[in-house]
Amino acid sequence: MKPLRIALTKGRLEKDTVALFDRMGLDTDVVKNKGRRLILPIGQDVEVVLAKSADVITYVENGVCDLGVVGKDTIAESGGRFYEVLDLGFGKCRFAVAAPKGADIFGGYHEITVASKYPNVARRFFERRGMDVRIIKIEGSVELAPLIGLADCIVDIVETGATLKENGLEIVTDVMPISARVIVNMAAMKLRQDDINALVSGMEQAL
Ligand code: PRP
Repeated sequence: MKPLRIALTKGRLEKDTVALFDRMGLDTDVVKNKGRRLILPIGQDVEVVLAKSADVITYVENGVCDLGVVGKDTIAESGGRFYEVLDLGFGKCRFAVAAPKGADIFGGYHEITVASKYPNVARRFFERRGMDVRIIKIEGSVELAPLIGLADCIVDIVETGATLKENGLEIVTDVMPISARVIVNMAAMKLRQDDINALVSGMEQAL
């Protein structure tokens, strides 16, 4: 049988995902000692590819990976055609609106400016509230935007809250909870249903 290929998000989610595979009895040594190798077989039946979160979605959508492990933050921002089959429960954090302490961003009538690495998530949130906002896309250190006068508030990921605190910002309101999810290519789900179900239920049992 051709191994199932699974794309894992590098970085924050990587360690927890590899630990999950260890608990499933898969031999993950090749992932732990990967060097510069990009396609990593773990056992006979599974092959791992490590990728940036947005690329995990691209690979799964295009069918070059059968499954992916990616944060709900990336799923919410990029959308796409795939099945989301399992909440892994790790990689927990949340999207929140944050602003300088004491700022009343919902109080006035003027259009507010929002900085975010996640413009689609931010736009949808303020649209639901019927608020007109100007969104500015930022690539990193979004917390800087209100401090240097680029934006009134931010929509960003909050994990411990330390980054906000150290920069004099506070949460105005939560937007949505985030955790790691398993996604599956739509065609693969039909063509390799049994193999995929076995792997996903193995992951679920090992949680
Ligand atoms: C994320 C997020 C915040 C920080 C929140 O950034 O954008 O800056 O983590 O974590 P905390 O609540 O525990 O302080 P990340 O480290 O992913 O880097 P980025 O600034 O490049 O987005």
